[in-house]
Amino acid sequence: MTGTTLFRVPFFHTPANPFRSADALRSHHDGAILVRDGVIVSSGDFDIVRRQSADVIGSVETVDWRDGYLLPGLIDTHVHYPQLRIIGGLGRTLLDWLEHVALPEEVRMADPDYAASTAARFVHSLASHGTTTALVFGAHFAHATASLFEAADRSGIRLVSGLVLSDRALRPELHQSPAEAYRDSTALIRRFHAQGRLTYALTPRFALSTTDAMLEVCQSLMREHPGIRLQTHINEQPDEVAACAQAFPWARDYLAIYERYSLSGPRAVLAHSVHTTDAELERMAATRTSVSHCPCSNAALGSGIFPMRRHLDAGVHVALGTDVGGGTGFGMLKEALQSYLLQRVSAAGQPLDPGQLLYLSTRAGAEALGLAADTGDLGVGKAADFVYLRPDADSPLAGALARAENMEQALAAIITLGAADAVREVRVAGDIVFRRP
Ligand code: GUN
Ligand code: ZN
Repeated sequence: MTGTTLFRVPFFHTPANPFRSADALRSHHDGAILVRDGVIVSSGDFDIVRRQSADVIGSVETVDWRDGYLLPGLIDTHVHYPQLRIIGGLGRTLLDWLEHVALPEEVRMADPDYAASTAARFVHSLASHGTTTALVFGAHFAHATASLFEAADRSGIRLVSGLVLSDRALRPELHQSPAEAYRDSTALIRRFHAQGRLTYALTPRFALSTTDAMLEVCQSLMREHPGIRLQTHINEQPDEVAACAQAFPWARDYLAIYERYSLSGPRAVLAHSVHTTDAELERMAATRTSVSHCPCSNAALGSGIFPMRRHLDAGVHVALGTDVGGGTGFGMLKEALQSYLLQRVSAAGQPLDPGQLLYLSTRAGAEALGLAADTGDLGVGKAADFVYLRPDADSPLAGALARAENMEQALAAIITLGAADAVREVRVAGDIVFRRP
């Protein structure tokens, strides 16, 4: 986006970590954000923004959104693109669901037309739910993963993704040799990494479906390309953890498998982490490894309740993910609500307030992906990545917002009731990536 625009709108954001600082949630009832060439140059109460920008404010385009609310663009840190069409496969546990629901669909991504149409729909689904940045599992096929990068590039969302790597335990059509994995990953990194809003993430599916030779390839690629990220799964279900222990008898725990190949650390996001031991948490914290917490998926697949308090007490960085299609949809606010609900009913649960839930859905993801200098909150210097919500006048959310006595209550209502139908417009660096007709 070029030029300067003033958005006058009530907004919320968490420029700091609300698990560490009491006033991290910033709410502006009569708020304003001044955007120049896609970057936020002033942000806060309208009166202050107006005073700070007196020289330009009379002449710039003004968007009056006082009938809705603005949030930072939502950040999904774990989602599978080839699983778009299999959301809702309820009643199975992880390994059974993989075999009977997920993997048969992932095989279909071998068809380039099917993959390209899935990629376009997938990216649209992210944007229409207010997600502006996502860490995405690509496909097991290089052409299908390229289709995802191309669709994201056309749309304008920020995408961190990569070719899914496996050389055992799935099914032959989804396996590649370590040499092929090296060749195809290298080509994709050269073609897409750091192009526009795209970032490459090395993506070994999970320890169970990779041999030592494949993990060694991952280690080499991470060394050769210092800017790329890494994503995989860890400690999702007890029988998966037991199978990994059998497959890697030398490993003292699940994390040790990845550690041996230098695959944990600040560039890594490990999804689920439901059955993680204290010893693993300590090492994750020490190496600044991030965890993607996927509460809808954890419930749908029966993985268990995420030990959020243990992660936070240990100092592990946690963000949120939808885990579509083990998860139940693209809504990151629904994910935040599910996290709140499950922590609330768990005996050892972590109480979560609206500011913490907003942080988990936005800035925490940017931090996990190394993108916090650009996105995750609405402070000065950040890209104008945001989602404008305005519910239909007769919706339950509109009613709850009309009754809200303060901004924190309004945010709680948005987290509880804010679904895709309330998303009116979504921007990345000021560019419109979704607008409801
Ligand atoms: N572990 C390995 N693959 C998957 C997957 O596709 N979804 C989930 N939830 N866990 C996995
Ligand atoms: Zn997953």
